[in-house]
Amino acid sequence: MQIWGGHPLQGHVKISGAKNSALVLMAGALLCSEDCRIRNVPMLADVERMSQVLLALGVGVKRDGEVLDINAKDFATSKAPYELVTQLRASFFAIGSILARLGVAQMPLPGGCAIGARPVDLHVRGLQAMGAEVQIEHGICNAYVPGSNRRLKGAKIYLDSPSVGATETLMMAATLADGETLIENAAREPEVVDLANFCKSMGAKIQGAGTSTITIVGVEKLHSTDYTVIPDRIEAGTFLTAGAITRSDLLLSPVVPEHLLPVIAKLREMGVPIIEEGTNSLRIKPADALKAADIETLPHPGFPTDMQAPFMSLMAVADGDSLINETVFENRLRHASELNRLGADIRVKGNIAFIRGVPVLSGAPVIGSDLRAAAALVVAGLAASGLTTIKGLQFLDRGYDRLDLKLLSVGAKIKRVSEAETEADETAPYLAPK
Ligand code: EPZ
Repeated sequence: MQIWGGHPLQGHVKISGAKNSALVLMAGALLCSEDCRIRNVPMLADVERMSQVLLALGVGVKRDGEVLDINAKDFATSKAPYELVTQLRASFFAIGSILARLGVAQMPLPGGCAIGARPVDLHVRGLQAMGAEVQIEHGICNAYVPGSNRRLKGAKIYLDSPSVGATETLMMAATLADGETLIENAAREPEVVDLANFCKSMGAKIQGAGTSTITIVGVEKLHSTDYTVIPDRIEAGTFLTAGAITRSDLLLSPVVPEHLLPVIAKLREMGVPIIEEGTNSLRIKPADALKAADIETLPHPGFPTDMQAPFMSLMAVADGDSLINETVFENRLRHASELNRLGADIRVKGNIAFIRGVPVLSGAPVIGSDLRAAAALVVAGLAASGLTTIKGLQFLDRGYDRLDLKLLSVGAKIKRVSEAETEADETAPYLAPK
């Protein structure tokens, strides 16, 4: 991707459905033996990959634009494909719904990624508390429920840390279990609430989603549904940082402002005007100046770790010294060195980044190392003078729906080019894509 930066943006950006909700709703649809229609599904590589996992299980999946129809009446197998699950961590969460439906599941371990080791011990321990026997062999998590009806049993589960994925896996498993399950120290993210609402729309009995204590009373069977995914708060947050760093006037919708409270609060602290317009729109206005600030990433409703990287780009050009403490993932500051290529002044020590604001960034060739790191480079490239060339788009496409086209529609000088074209003359002027 090539960006000629230093230009304000203007206009309206349509925010897509939430990646981290759509993926787990697709896993949730496996709980139901009738038709499930999911709307507002973003166009993402990860959604495609999740569809392939479901198809490999023998489940019916049909897509029509932003609408997905899933029918899990029949499974061909309880074993998920190794090569797909190891590339898509969210597909591991389906172990909860497969085990709840079939009483057996073989799920490859998702393994670590660029941002951390990402173990699944909390998922496994919760399933064992519900009566599952779990053995990990040859990279596969083999789970089965002993006994004649092979049905999980309600249990009291305390999570050592409020893991989003473990909360979602166990909530799905408990939906069809025999009896009541209590998940304590549960994750409170909006995507967890969206999954609970999706399951309730199929007849599940769930209370307390969005709080630290979730109660699920298992039911025998779920029924069909037609459900719309919530807007993507991280995509919206990324556009807010793009608007702030370019001193732009942007209107974003649909959004749920409540989902973005920590992000909006931090932007306002940095001097950026954010206005709620109506119930589902946010407007960002040009800031006179960007003030430095500190961030500590935390589980929701704390500051989201997925917004940390785009904010580092913003802090790189703020007045003064900022500090980021990344407490959720152990290896999620790798974008700092690429931002330094663009002229930022960032030092990293362990999970802390010290950011000394500089007046301007200057364009350069950079590489995204993971999804949000790549987004941070796009945000920085929009502000940097001259040409920024970004590689590592395979990460970006996993989580951002047509990001370059949306930016183009509000006046960014941006285009997607082939690898060969990135070698082109860096002083070449911007020619808008045809
Ligand atoms: C979800 O990942 C999101 N992914 C992540 O978004 C997001 O960063 C993360 O939640 C935190 O908000 C999806 O929803 C698909 P966790 P998840 O379990 O569920 C440790 C993005 O950019 N942990 O809450 O994997 C873990 O290692 C992605 O869109 C255990 O130790 O996150 C991490 O340090 C990246 N044992 C911490 O908890 C476990 O069994 C939080 O992880 C599970 C997690």
